[in-house]
Amino acid sequence: MKTIHSLLVVVLGGFALLSICAFQADLPPVQADVTPTPTYDPLVEPPLPEHPTELELGKNLYWHWCMPCHGDVGQGLTDEFRGVWEPDHQNCWARGCHAGRKEDTGFPIPTVVPAIVIADKLAQFPSLQALADFLQATHPPQHPGILQTDEYHAIAAYVFTMNDRPLEDSTPTALPTPLPTSTMSLPPSNQGLSASTSTPFLVVGGALFLIIILILSVAMRKPKL
Ligand code: HEC
Repeated sequence: MKTIHSLLVVVLGGFALLSICAFQADLPPVQADVTPTPTYDPLVEPPLPEHPTELELGKNLYWHWCMPCHGDVGQGLTDEFRGVWEPDHQNCWARGCHAGRKEDTGFPIPTVVPAIVIADKLAQFPSLQALADFLQATHPPQHPGILQTDEYHAIAAYVFTMNDRPLEDSTPTALPTPLPTSTMSLPPSNQGLSASTSTPFLVVGGALFLIIILILSVAMRKPKL
């Protein structure tokens, strides 16, 4: 009777242990300390290295000459985008600002400025050069042609990139350029996944092993009648 009792205790204890282990194994792994990512501020000028690539130049020029009207990501002059400015800069068309009145200090800003990162990827411009020419002829509206030809080209290249368009001035009939060889690597989370899926098996297996050992040792101690 005593043996059965202790056997029961061991088995129940084992199950309790097992369920605790299984529960623990199910818990998500403890988050590693998250290093804070610097918050993105559209009003901070993109760095311009001493010898910039065309895209670096274009990004910087876009920030200076285009972003105030077309938004930091080409969204257009949306209410949301105006919200990133200091409160007293949010109404572009206030007296003394960009409304185009005599006493205004800034160039006039139209009340509607279109998005230039759009679903059809600026299809009205068949090539990078076509966009560069359009910009040189019409932009910025307050002073068309004020920039250098290569600066317009750099801005056009940056705007194409914003639209995920290839930069080659190729005609649409050209053969598609091969994709760059994949340098894809498994994200680190995959390794974490395989490690965590094997953990429950280890824990459960270990617990089962312990229980069997315990049961056996109790059974062995059973007094001979
Ligand atoms: C003063 C505000 C202002 C600035 C600065 C400005 N734009 Fe514009 N942009 C406009 C407006 C307004 C239009 C629409 C003009 C129209 O439809 O005739 C426009 C049109 C465009 C278009 C054509 C969009 C379409 O749908 O056809 C492109 C592309 C463009 N801008 C790019 C730029 C780039 C690049 C810069 C920087 C060099 C820039 N803009 C600077 C106000 C601005």
